[in-house]
Amino acid sequence: MVRQEQLCSHAAPKRPTHGGGRVVHSAYKRVVVNPRFSYVMTAGHHLPSMAEEIGRSLAGRIRFIHPKFFYDEAGSLLFEQITTLPEYYPTRSEMEILRSMRPGLAGFLQGDFALVELGSGSAKKTRLLLDLLAQRQETVEYYPIDISSIIKESSLRLQRDYKNIKITGILGQYENGLSFVKGIACRKVIAFLGSSIGNFSPSAASRLLKNIRLAMGPSDLLLLGLDLAKQRDVLESAYNDFAGITAKFNLNVLKRINTELGGNFDLQNFEHLAFYNQSRRRIEMHLRSRQPQEITISSINLSFKLRRGETILTEHSYKFTHGQIESMARGAGLGVKGIWHDSRKFFAVALLSP
Ligand SMILES: C[S@@+](CC[C@H](N)C(=O)[O-])C[C@H]1O[C@@H](n2cnc3c(N)ncnc32)[C@H](O)[C@@H]1O
Repeated sequence: MVRQEQLCSHAAPKRPTHGGGRVVHSAYKRVVVNPRFSYVMTAGHHLPSMAEEIGRSLAGRIRFIHPKFFYDEAGSLLFEQITTLPEYYPTRSEMEILRSMRPGLAGFLQGDFALVELGSGSAKKTRLLLDLLAQRQETVEYYPIDISSIIKESSLRLQRDYKNIKITGILGQYENGLSFVKGIACRKVIAFLGSSIGNFSPSAASRLLKNIRLAMGPSDLLLLGLDLAKQRDVLESAYNDFAGITAKFNLNVLKRINTELGGNFDLQNFEHLAFYNQSRRRIEMHLRSRQPQEITISSINLSFKLRRGETILTEHSYKFTHGQIESMARGAGLGVKGIWHDSRKFFAVALLSP
């Protein structure tokens, strides 16, 4: 039996621990939940706080709330509901691909790999990858990275179902998670699913991909899930579901700002708006003001007026073509080992490596 500490040692510098308690201080604050599950908290590591970011982005000419702020506890639960909606094809399509590509992927997984996942969420898709790794390896080290505390419940559920998994969660943003996993001394498969890369502008997406590349060793692999450009009606109904869950998810970010930052948003005064911007090949999600109103957010000393019909942008979701996938990968110094699709060719999963 391989001892766990022999697997993927982590080279992050450690400060003295205070010993005995559950929290061990290192360069990152680590919470040990049990011998097979701990997580580190990276808030405050070189990145602006939610208050600072929202203060800036709501004061700009185009008022904007970054989509990463959707994911408080309620937002993460609403996202999970979205993934089961009949109109929301991305989750089903990507799961179909992950299932069908497993034999092909297995061919690239010679020897042991740790699994790193950016934006792991409920880790539903992760199971399809873990099934593959857990069968072949004595122990699987899993490093989920997520800004949402959902990482705690989803990790405990995985731990219950996979007896040979050891989990180190990174509760924080992608950038901090990537610096953490850069220090792992073993081969990694990095999964970045759900087309979350589409939430970044093309230039930010290529910066992020380069950052991912920098966290990879020469024989590491990246599994990148991407939503493909397609007919407008399919795209628009995925973001305008009949049950109104996406609208709730969108509006929930205002509730979060009210609770956490002292905002006075009246949710009744906003409506969900999502449409496909064909020329930029992206879905745009906004919150549209139903009437003239004045907003104040007390903890950041911000106040501004909204006209009737004026919107706050809450998400871009870029849709990709094959040419773009290949050129994005090339631009980040990654080669394409394969691209898999679902039966309707709605979604793609690319396997990339340095
Ligand atoms: C669209 S969900 C995708 C979840 C899952 N990977 C899937 O494919 O169904 C995005 C996930 O990424 C997390 N997330 C979003 N922005 C993030 C960021 N900047 N840093 C870390 N996690 C982030 C969210 O909390 C959420 O769990």
